[in-house]
Amino acid sequence: MNLTDKIQALKKEKKAVILAHNYQRSEIQDIADYVGDSIELSRKAMLEQDAEIIVFAAVDFMAESAAILNPAKKVLLPSLGARCPMAQMLTVDEIKRVKVHYPDAPVVLYVNTLASSKAYCDICCTSANAVEVINSLDAETVIFGPDRNLAQYATEKTGKTLIPIPEWGFCPTHVLFQPEDVTILKHQYPNAVVMAHPECSAEMRGVADFIGSTSKMCQYARDTPARTIIVGTEEGLLHRLRKENPGKRFVIAYKGAVCPNMKLTTLDRLYASLKDEKHVVKVPDQVARKARGALERMFQIKS
Ligand code: 13P
Ligand code: SF4
Repeated sequence: MNLTDKIQALKKEKKAVILAHNYQRSEIQDIADYVGDSIELSRKAMLEQDAEIIVFAAVDFMAESAAILNPAKKVLLPSLGARCPMAQMLTVDEIKRVKVHYPDAPVVLYVNTLASSKAYCDICCTSANAVEVINSLDAETVIFGPDRNLAQYATEKTGKTLIPIPEWGFCPTHVLFQPEDVTILKHQYPNAVVMAHPECSAEMRGVADFIGSTSKMCQYARDTPARTIIVGTEEGLLHRLRKENPGKRFVIAYKGAVCPNMKLTTLDRLYASLKDEKHVVKVPDQVARKARGALERMFQIKS
């Protein structure tokens, strides 16, 4: 039996389901039961009933959200090193420090945060619904973290005042995209359209025809009549884009745009994870209860 067959057999034996983020390696996406963006994966984990184990092929904060939203399941993160550096950028102390200066401002946190921080916010959001979440609040000033670029994007779309926490939060992968690379590619593909993730800089977003979460980009790619699409997000998404649109050409806007943390999930690690039921993601009850409230409030917002 090859590794893929072994994983499939173990999955059946242990009643496991594999959820994979759009940035995962191609072979992980291909073996997963479901591939999606962060809100789709959270929803899927929350509603999962039949499986006893959820293997989360992604990074720490996404697996934590699954454990928070469906505490009856065993949630496994195949590689303990798969941590989102942006999620590490916001501490509880920073939230408390800024809150003192804006006591009436609600705290909205991007899901790319650790559960300990989510426990201190009013509501969560993802890149798919940040604008709708902020518009739903009866407040003109909102404390928002940890991504400064998403904060800027949401400010442009909502007209509200967003106080970024920390002031400098960013995704190390998405800040690599530069508009000059798009200019060069546009010479090569003059009819191409450009998609960018809201975690990209304002300059990069400025040259994009479409800005959205990874799954919203998949939707746009399906719908656009353009045959060539320049992609401003982590390169893993191109596997899904090409699979779903065999007649279209997808070009990454910058070849080095790799999230090393997302790539830590390999088939070997996935197999070992299922076999030994490791690494179990656990969130302390008190933290989980508060963070669940913030995530559930997000799910009530229509986007
Ligand atoms: P999506 O919610 O768009 O999948 O983004 C998650 C992420 O980590 C982007 O870097
Ligand atoms: Fe975190 Fe950026 Fe990787 Fe997304 S791409 S998981 S924000 S480091």
